[in-house]
Amino acid sequence: MTNLYLHKILIIILMITVTPTIGQTFIQIPVTLSGNTIELTLQHGSKSIIPGIETQTIGYNGAFLGPTILLQQGQQVTFNVHNQLGDTTTTHWHGLHVAPTNDGSPHNPILAGETWSPSFTIMDKAATYWYHPHLHGKTLDQVVKGASGFIIVRDPEEAALNLPRTYAVDDVPLVFQWKTFDANNQIVENDEADNTVLVNGSLNGLLELPAQIVRLRLLNGSSHRYFDFGFSDNHLFKQIASDGGLLDAPVSMTRLILGPGERAEILVDLSGLQGNMVKLRQFGTQLPSGYPGGSMMMGGMMGPKDNTDFDLMTIQVTAQTVNAVTTFPTTLTTNVAWPQTGAMTRNFGLSAQPMMSMTNFFINGLKFDMETVNFTTEQGKTEIWNITNQTMMAHPFHVHGNSFYVLSVNGSTPPSNLRGRKDVVTIPPMNGSVKIIMRFEDFSDTEMPYMYHCHILSHEDTGMMGQFVVGPSSTGTVAPIAQNHLSVFPTLLTTGMDNIRITAESGWEVQKIEVYDQVGRMLLSALNITEIGSDKLVSGVNFIKVFTTKGTAVFTVIKTN
Ligand code: C2O
Ligand code: CU
Ligand code: CU
Repeated sequence: MTNLYLHKILIIILMITVTPTIGQTFIQIPVTLSGNTIELTLQHGSKSIIPGIETQTIGYNGAFLGPTILLQQGQQVTFNVHNQLGDTTTTHWHGLHVAPTNDGSPHNPILAGETWSPSFTIMDKAATYWYHPHLHGKTLDQVVKGASGFIIVRDPEEAALNLPRTYAVDDVPLVFQWKTFDANNQIVENDEADNTVLVNGSLNGLLELPAQIVRLRLLNGSSHRYFDFGFSDNHLFKQIASDGGLLDAPVSMTRLILGPGERAEILVDLSGLQGNMVKLRQFGTQLPSGYPGGSMMMGGMMGPKDNTDFDLMTIQVTAQTVNAVTTFPTTLTTNVAWPQTGAMTRNFGLSAQPMMSMTNFFINGLKFDMETVNFTTEQGKTEIWNITNQTMMAHPFHVHGNSFYVLSVNGSTPPSNLRGRKDVVTIPPMNGSVKIIMRFEDFSDTEMPYMYHCHILSHEDTGMMGQFVVGPSSTGTVAPIAQNHLSVFPTLLTTGMDNIRITAESGWEVQKIEVYDQVGRMLLSALNITEIGSDKLVSGVNFIKVFTTKGTAVFTVIKTN
């Protein structure tokens, strides 16, 4: 072998270590926007994601995904969201504590060609939030094609900690998204077959990070599947924040499960690893049974990468930066959930119809209806929500408008990384249950509801969603929604009682009544009645949906015999 030949090999080896391997691209870090006025334009585009044909996409201010919006707690912000999609859309600030009119829910549509300009004060704690369209029935279509971006909120408490916070250097947002690509490299609006995972829009991408403690802001921005994250070398990492704020202290772990919509900030110590490569991996084989992306129960719908372990991205460790963070903080904040005394408990049942179905889901026996407010509460009230899952799969349950604390998972104290502020929580399958607590502190609106839903987008789009109104505290005026103008009696039907009577104030005349059982089976549908015979109801929980001339409301009736 000649010297020249050796030299060539060396050059080739060197090139391999400094450039991505074939098909590997550098992971892009989104540009940032900040200030009091933020311009966002939803638009179509195309992007080369898989070698070959370009993929038709949707993005904010670009072809795919969107800029990271940096906000300071206490600041005023006005968004001008321009809709150039040629179709109706909305933009929801997922996790932000805002009034219903600013929320970007299905009730805040932006028509094609129009601009929506909500304006509000940032009241949230430092954490990682996100934004995405939320038009009922179209959320999956628009989000899966690329419409979503990060929101990073900063506050003085977080700023006082010795944490990495140089954006794109040691503080990096990473959105992980399962997607289905067809043979022509196009994204298919079918989240049940996910065959690909993108990180910030890159397939099997490469990210350079310095040899020090780095902060990764992980978002599961998928429409359907879960991640069970870990490193190829089983590197220990520390979770410092959940959806809506810092944890009390860093939590050490080697695996982290995130469902669709969930975020976690983690610290990873890469000190001493300069020149090395570390892979961030999906450990699908370690997901609990029934979590989409892991093994499904009873042969549920399987995608080609379900229940497998594979690399998500490669970290190439580069030289340490000046002012590197090299020690972990020991404490972060103090999370205190609201007191449970005096809180009312509300029950939510997640069900499938038929019981084994993996596609047809209900909350409290009902499908979402834009015109139906499922319940009302009051500003200042604390509520405990007890959510049970009677289906074969896990569902990530999300509430708009307020962060909550998790009180229990399957009856036990939640693990420490679920003891911070959350807005999405997994309800485990097969009668799993989760209790959460929240207080409706700052906003009331008698007209416009907040949503709660499963964050699996096909489930949400097909009606696994409900809505509630936060009215003024009872000293205020009566809310003009159907619930407050109707009464249903009795709501507890014991032996010997034979009917249920519905009474309405004048102007709220009852037009139609529907009765559903817990799994969404319709038991009765009748026009112009105000009495329901007890024989029409099933033992246990029944939902009475009352349609009036001015609006629709839902009541729960329990039959004990
Ligand atoms: Cu991230 Cu109601 O949504
Ligand atoms: Cu949300
Ligand atoms: Cu679901």
